[in-house]
Amino acid sequence: MPYMSIEAAVAAAVAAYLISSFIYNIAFHPLRSFPGPLLWRATRLTKCYHFLRGDMPFAVRDLHIRYGPVVRISPEELAFADAQAFKDIYNQKMVKWKGMYGFKPEHIQDIAGVSETRHHAFMRRHLAAGFSETALRNQESILVDHVDLLIHQLRERSAGGRVPQDMRNWFNWLTFDITGTLVFGAEFGGLRHAKSAEWVAMMTDNVRVLMWMSALLGFVGTTLRRVLVWILMSGIIPSVAAHEQRTKNMLRERMDRKGTYDDRDYIIDGLININDPRVESNAVVLIMAGSETTSTALTATLFALLQAPEKMARITKEVRSTFSRDEDITMASTLDKLPYLMACLSEGLRWYPPSVSGLARVVPKGGAKICGHYVPEDTIVAAWTWSVTRDTRYFTDAYRFHPERWLLGEDERFANDELDASPPFSIGSRSCIGKNLAMAELRLTLARLVYNFDLSLASPFKGDWFKGQKAYLVWDKPSVMVTLTPTGES
Ligand code: HEM
Repeated sequence: MPYMSIEAAVAAAVAAYLISSFIYNIAFHPLRSFPGPLLWRATRLTKCYHFLRGDMPFAVRDLHIRYGPVVRISPEELAFADAQAFKDIYNQKMVKWKGMYGFKPEHIQDIAGVSETRHHAFMRRHLAAGFSETALRNQESILVDHVDLLIHQLRERSAGGRVPQDMRNWFNWLTFDITGTLVFGAEFGGLRHAKSAEWVAMMTDNVRVLMWMSALLGFVGTTLRRVLVWILMSGIIPSVAAHEQRTKNMLRERMDRKGTYDDRDYIIDGLININDPRVESNAVVLIMAGSETTSTALTATLFALLQAPEKMARITKEVRSTFSRDEDITMASTLDKLPYLMACLSEGLRWYPPSVSGLARVVPKGGAKICGHYVPEDTIVAAWTWSVTRDTRYFTDAYRFHPERWLLGEDERFANDELDASPPFSIGSRSCIGKNLAMAELRLTLARLVYNFDLSLASPFKGDWFKGQKAYLVWDKPSVMVTLTPTGES
């Protein structure tokens, strides 16, 4: 028998494994009849590559245009571009796919990442009080104080409209300060100092680490996944360890203040009160889930309005003709008196959905019917928001920002739009727990902004805003430089 070195034997074994798994995935896998390009169907590498490039939602949309509403985007994963898929996937008892969410063992996972239903239901039940209507009413002063500070800072720093401001940053500082206060009982100070606080900057860095981890977790098998999770949990990544320590310290300070602060409901209290070991991970996820998303919605909606002066004029007129004093703009008064503002927010959330990727679930034992297709058990499935909300079957002129589509009977062009095809907060038992809080923040901030300032883009923007933008788990948003002239000074 001819001699073969160990290296050559290993290389031959790896090549044999890869070739056989390619052949299996293409010719024998239970999903073999679903369409998709060869390189996506044969290996997880292709998806992993696009995920890390930050163009996954756009690549998937292109695949849906080429292959139709169901596409196989990795050997065991189907991407749906159909409004019915939201109901068929998220209203059913399908658990979250650990390859997307599962960085930690189940018993210490946070509410958004946990997969097992009993762990999730427990946390959701205990956190629910902090998101109730009563809690939200108690939290209003926190929201108002921070929006007041935003308006004050913008008045000071814009120097009567002479110094353009980056509203992407201001919205980020605003939403992180609000959520920070709702969790830690103390703001981060972003608005006050006009710069990202250390904790927030550390967390943003960690999101990058987690994004890479997420891509790898989705790519590797179970054993390697355990190794990656161990690396993450062991504290050997300095930025992750430092952030964890800071979070612990802030929570301790928060608990020391408990009882001496005031009676506003904090959104983490449900878990603090029962001494739950997951307080820390939930504190981080609540801040992440509650801040980044809300600031993305504000940034994109404002940008879209600034691009369409007639729409900006309409929202401004609506707010200024409804209110004659700044202090009358409240959470309650903005709810039913400003239909056009509400339409702008709904359209902003559709046009630039803060949660832009497919939220991956696993098909349970026995398989499931999704959009009329039988899908075998253990398949990973998701409805791809970006693909559905760009689909002209559901939205006329889908790539453009038209708040009018949300005002029933106002514009015949949008009479056949299916508005349910844009569920920005998702649906079902894992939908957004902070939806009402987020909507209150969005209403208050946008109304107060257009009441207090005449706004315009500092340098007119031409072309496609989305071009070149990266979308990972969250958007990598560009700056939005705005000239703000305080009302009465123009
Ligand atoms: C415009 C703002 C927001 C948008 C678009 C948004 C969107 C979403 C979406 C799509 C989900 C489902 C995620 C999944 O299935 O993996 C979700 C879940 C969640 N969101 Fe939000 N969110 C927003 C604001 C907030 C706020 C303000 C908070 C709290 C401070 C929050 C806390 C959460 C939590 C804890 C979950 C996990 C819920 C569960 O699994 O039971 N979100 N959000």
